[in-house]
Amino acid sequence: MCGIFVYQGPRSDAAGIVLEGLKRLEYRGYDSWGLAVPGSDGLKTERRVGKIGAVSANDGPIAALNPSNVAIGHTRWATHGGVTEGNAHPHLSCDGKVGVIHNGIVENAEELKAELLAGGHVLASETDSEVIAHLIENLLRDHPLPEAVRLAFSRLRGRNAIVVLSASAGKVLVVAKSGSPVVIGIGGNESAPEYFVSSDMPALLAHTNRLVWLGDHEMATIDGSLKFASTSTGEPISRQSEIVAWEPEQAERGEHPHFMLKEILEQRDAVQRAINQPPALLDEVAAVMRVAQEVCFIGCGTAGAVGRIGTYLFADIAGRATSAILGSEFKNYRHSLHERTLLIAISQSGETADLLEAVDIALARGSRVVAIVNVPGSMLTRKAHYTLLVQAGPEKAVASTKATMGQIAVLGLLAHACAGQAAHGHALLTNVASHIDALTTPDYMGRVARLANRLAGEDDLYVIGRGINYPVALEAAIKVQEVSYIHAEGIAGGELKHYAIALIQPGTPCIILASNDDARAEILSNAAQVKARGGMIIGVGPEDNPIFDEYLPVPDGGGLSPLLTLIPMQILAYYLACARGNDPDMPRNLAKSVTVK
Ligand code: M6R
Repeated sequence: MCGIFVYQGPRSDAAGIVLEGLKRLEYRGYDSWGLAVPGSDGLKTERRVGKIGAVSANDGPIAALNPSNVAIGHTRWATHGGVTEGNAHPHLSCDGKVGVIHNGIVENAEELKAELLAGGHVLASETDSEVIAHLIENLLRDHPLPEAVRLAFSRLRGRNAIVVLSASAGKVLVVAKSGSPVVIGIGGNESAPEYFVSSDMPALLAHTNRLVWLGDHEMATIDGSLKFASTSTGEPISRQSEIVAWEPEQAERGEHPHFMLKEILEQRDAVQRAINQPPALLDEVAAVMRVAQEVCFIGCGTAGAVGRIGTYLFADIAGRATSAILGSEFKNYRHSLHERTLLIAISQSGETADLLEAVDIALARGSRVVAIVNVPGSMLTRKAHYTLLVQAGPEKAVASTKATMGQIAVLGLLAHACAGQAAHGHALLTNVASHIDALTTPDYMGRVARLANRLAGEDDLYVIGRGINYPVALEAAIKVQEVSYIHAEGIAGGELKHYAIALIQPGTPCIILASNDDARAEILSNAAQVKARGGMIIGVGPEDNPIFDEYLPVPDGGGLSPLLTLIPMQILAYYLACARGNDPDMPRNLAKSVTVK
């Protein structure tokens, strides 16, 4: 969940380069941050609590870290120990010569701490991460840095990624990974190469698009060249670099006040790119689906809601029964998996720990796995048998918008391919995408913003849908919750009378998703039940209705309506966050990639 950024190369302003890299990564974790460079008798560090925000490379203590050709940096999302300067990374060994930045959770940290304390080490922080620096310090007595790191790393339980800098080893960096993502960027030229390490690929794009993803149980030593080895055996391994087509500007905010707004506005193009899947790959995945005995969508958070939307799309378009399970719940179903189970794993990052664990479980049972994922090269793409890339480009706001739309579009296309109607599906999706612009005009956005201002003081908000609009309501509620912090719930219209109508009081805001589908009459009747209890009805759909107190029009998207209905919900969430003074890009307590369990 934390962010790692590292530089080694000919430039002497390594601390400044890493500081800028950390700013690009701040969406991954933003409670504290820190940097380290080698000094004459140990590492020099600067650690601070809070967001990096406007801190510049000219800031006194940061500038004092340069000149240096190497620097390691970290933004933290606290797991073990409070948000304090002392708990911020890098963590140092007792002699101050070994510095470690860490992403993940050392599950056996308490055991290792006890051993280190008994051996005379003094631990300065409450974190699980610090033990790594002390373990390496011990091992450096008998081993060179790469081997000391390998041996220390082998003792850690859990899904971890570390970068280690040692004052005694000069510019040498050692990177190791067993779960959390790490990507190495290679820049400069043949005679003066430069190396970057990051937990997240978009942060590297300003410097290079030549990248190497480190696999699990792999390590890299960067000493002016790049060498790879297995963390289990120490044996050298070979790894090829890949060129990624994402442009650096795509990862910048530009003129927009927030990434979330920028990404909402990019959704027409995102949907259009998502449906341009390689035809042969699409056919192959559709064929695998047709022969599968069971098909199950898995995802977490928003991607979990997308999976549920997928079950409706496949039933409606391909006449195919499928199921949807949250990544974190999937292990409970492991005994039902076999070779003819097909798992469709949905993810923006491709690095979500709960999802990757579910995929591992399915692979171990011989099941097939298709990934629908936005980030090329991510762990999920490496585990899956087939990958349909969403191609939404870098998504930096914590709240997923354009990647979500891309995932839904891919599912819509795949459902049509499964029904033997890929070309028809492509045409329908292109038509739906063409209506997205109507939902992002200044007039329309202003209308949603006014509604947000009206609702900004509410404590509770319900989003009610039937049919495919039920999972759309779940996703709408996720968006509202995560950025506005208003308690929001998605409710199936049919369930209201079973329990949820008890929540309705005079004035309770209820968003009614009323598409032009066969659920419309019933959802309007639900709206009437809510209105009879004094609820405030906000209608969303292609047709206005006298029962609506407020109305957000949405073009008719037919069977692909989620691609349109969700957009005003995302915009509403965004403006609610702004109206309540929240930062929609970095909502409290959340991080973009949930790489810990
Ligand atoms: O990267 P993933 O799509 O696998 O992430 C899954 C969830 O963590 C993610 O969808 C989360 O719920 C978002 N913040 C929602 O906007």
